[in-house]
Amino acid sequence: MRILSGINPSSSKGLHIGNYFGMVKRFVELQTEGECLFLVANLHSLNTVYTPDEIRNNTSAIFLQYLALGIDPQKSIFFVESDVPEIPYLQTILNNVVTVAELKRMHGYKDKLAHEVSPDEISAGLFEYPVLMAADILLFDVDLVPVGEDQKQHVEITREIARTFNNRFGNVLTVPEVKIQKETARILGTDGQRKMSKSLGNDLPIFGNEKELYTHIMRITTDPSRIRPTDPGDPAKNVCFSYLQLLDFDAQQLEELREQYREGKIGDVAIKEMLYEKFLHYFKPYRDAHVELAADVPKLSALRKAGSERAREIATKTISKVQRACGINA
Ligand code: TYM
Repeated sequence: MRILSGINPSSSKGLHIGNYFGMVKRFVELQTEGECLFLVANLHSLNTVYTPDEIRNNTSAIFLQYLALGIDPQKSIFFVESDVPEIPYLQTILNNVVTVAELKRMHGYKDKLAHEVSPDEISAGLFEYPVLMAADILLFDVDLVPVGEDQKQHVEITREIARTFNNRFGNVLTVPEVKIQKETARILGTDGQRKMSKSLGNDLPIFGNEKELYTHIMRITTDPSRIRPTDPGDPAKNVCFSYLQLLDFDAQQLEELREQYREGKIGDVAIKEMLYEKFLHYFKPYRDAHVELAADVPKLSALRKAGSERAREIATKTISKVQRACGINA
């Protein structure tokens, strides 16, 4: 079984706990179950990040953060999207098996339309984003794509693109399955309302410095009906409880805390202090690994190069098959 996933390195704040619990944690486990490929999708970030240094820095930062979190280059093929030119090549071909109407139904495009002054200002790159992602996946004969809920539609259109291609040109592309873990499909942001997202600024970055992390945590929105720590509160309206659960806080102790919260026996600040401590404790091994890996720049470059070479071995085979199928081989 071949498994692939990726991340768009669009933020300099790096990975947040939505990415981690929504996808990375499961992906790290899957590395023992199948042949895994993992990519840093920096071509995707070109539609929101316009500064070359920022693209370069975000790409290396995310690459490093994934290694620190347990993506193992011995077990997985771990690479950067722009190092595999077969990806945009396949995208060009796939553009011909997807319709404008299908792309207009994509959430990313529709969200942008809802906020943008005019649709004419939306880049073709954003419109095409799902086709680029389809190319990432279909190039590698992938069976399974583990993602969070927000990427489901992208995997669905990938399946559709593969089916249309196969109907037209013969059975060449593997139609992948999407894999979403129910409990962690949509981690809420620190506003307690919307999905945690780097672009919404409601995220908790895993590798941020302690002071910033503390400030982020202290700003988490809690039960708004509670004015004083002695007022009864509703734990369901305080996202800190869900975070504590994700961070493996002791289940019985957590239930006791919820009870104290309901009865107005514990303040929000005390809960946030516990969350801060638990967060640092949970991510300590990864944060330590991050510091260690960051010191070895030549190793990181070598890993990146080796990853792209392994990815291209598979990619060039698929491209040959695709070229033959469409009649564009030499
Ligand atoms: P991206 O960079 O937005 O997110 C990376 C992964 O994290 C998951 N995720 C979440 N899961 C649960 N709760 C959240 N709040 C949350 N926020 C993010 C995402 O679902 C995703 O799995 N287009 C993709 C990157 C990509 C890709 C691919 C993914 C490019 N090529 C090929 C899979 C296969 C993206 O923007 O993800």
